[in-house]
Amino acid sequence: MSQTSRLPGLHKLTVFERIDAIAQSAELSAQDRKTLRGGGLDLQRADKLIENAIGIYSLPLGIATNFLINGRDVLIPMVIEEPSVVAGASFMAKLAREGGGFRTSSTAPEMIGQIQVLDLDDLDAAEHAIIVHRKELLAAVGQQIQRLIARGGGPRDIEVRCFAESPAGPMLVVHLVIDCRDAMGANLVNTACEALAEPIERITGGRVALRILSNLTDKRLATAECTIPSTALTFGEYPGDVVVKRIIEAWAFAVVDPYRAATHNKGVMNGIDPVVIATGNDWRAIEAGAHAYAVRDGRYTSLSEWGTDEAGNLTGKLELPMAVGIVGGTTRAHPAAQTALKILGVSSAGELAEIITAVGLAQNLAALRALATEGIQAGHMALHARQIALSAGATGPAIDRLAEQMLREGKITPSRAEELMNNN
Ligand code: MEV
Repeated sequence: MSQTSRLPGLHKLTVFERIDAIAQSAELSAQDRKTLRGGGLDLQRADKLIENAIGIYSLPLGIATNFLINGRDVLIPMVIEEPSVVAGASFMAKLAREGGGFRTSSTAPEMIGQIQVLDLDDLDAAEHAIIVHRKELLAAVGQQIQRLIARGGGPRDIEVRCFAESPAGPMLVVHLVIDCRDAMGANLVNTACEALAEPIERITGGRVALRILSNLTDKRLATAECTIPSTALTFGEYPGDVVVKRIIEAWAFAVVDPYRAATHNKGVMNGIDPVVIATGNDWRAIEAGAHAYAVRDGRYTSLSEWGTDEAGNLTGKLELPMAVGIVGGTTRAHPAAQTALKILGVSSAGELAEIITAVGLAQNLAALRALATEGIQAGHMALHARQIALSAGATGPAIDRLAEQMLREGKITPSRAEELMNNN
């Protein structure tokens, strides 16, 4: 059965009804439903994941709807504590559908491992020696990762970078490029880099120091694009073409000003991190790669691009490093990550990377559209009021009742929520 991501009214259901609706749509098992209800991770598993575990820290797992990606309907699991994000992504995905949804692509899943070589008398000679022995080095790596080669991945290239001056003297950096297929690849890249230390010392006569992957995975990129008909962007008193113009002005601000770009890109990551976390991937690695990529031309700038087509419709594009896996690591160890992958219905790491990038683009648009029109607080405050009501102890229908009253009064504070609770 092909899944639909159009689930109108999902937000009006109770959380248990929602689990049923998603389970039905994504054909989840009884065990997956149990995982969603219970959070997935028990203390025994937590104790195996990190050291000195003393508990489990939970976050909400939501579903963004309406995503149409390369013609396929995809439900998006998002782990996030911030209100408005899931709703914003879902709404922008709905607008993007009107322009045919998101078009995505990705490069080969090639990671870079770095090997630092010091104590060299002649950098050029060492570089030349590495290039001459390139095949031998790649073969040595191949010995270490035969299972990956059997799955279609493996070592692809050796590159050399020379730093004639550094605080530690002349430095040669060898890049080992490995196609990691469906794994994120941190462990296998690090293992391969360590295996190259001895041959590199022998070949160059230098001393190998660090051997570690780079999180600037600029060979492992994902791209998402969308076109939103300007008519779909009509918003209250703002005609569609005005909204388009204002969104482009908002983006231009991030292009020229790093202070704005940091916030703009935070909005992009509001869409990206929740899916990375839901699927058990390393969001610190994705954050590091994204921001390093945003400054690749020497000045920190917007990760996304917005413009118009000949008909005046809004066009958007997001390209960034996206080193995520669907096998191994926490992805395998965390039952909720397994359920999230089932909901996404992905069959490769590249497909997951592309979906995550589409969500980042949608989330960026949600923020720009709000900022460029009514401002971010209007939508935010409604959800914020619910959170305040919740922290004041409201449950069930009382949450919405208290939130609505605080919004009407324009007084959304913990003390007012407590007063209303006490008066109930
Ligand atoms: C808030 O979490 C994210 C925004 O600040 C992003 C932006 O300003 O573009 C709204």
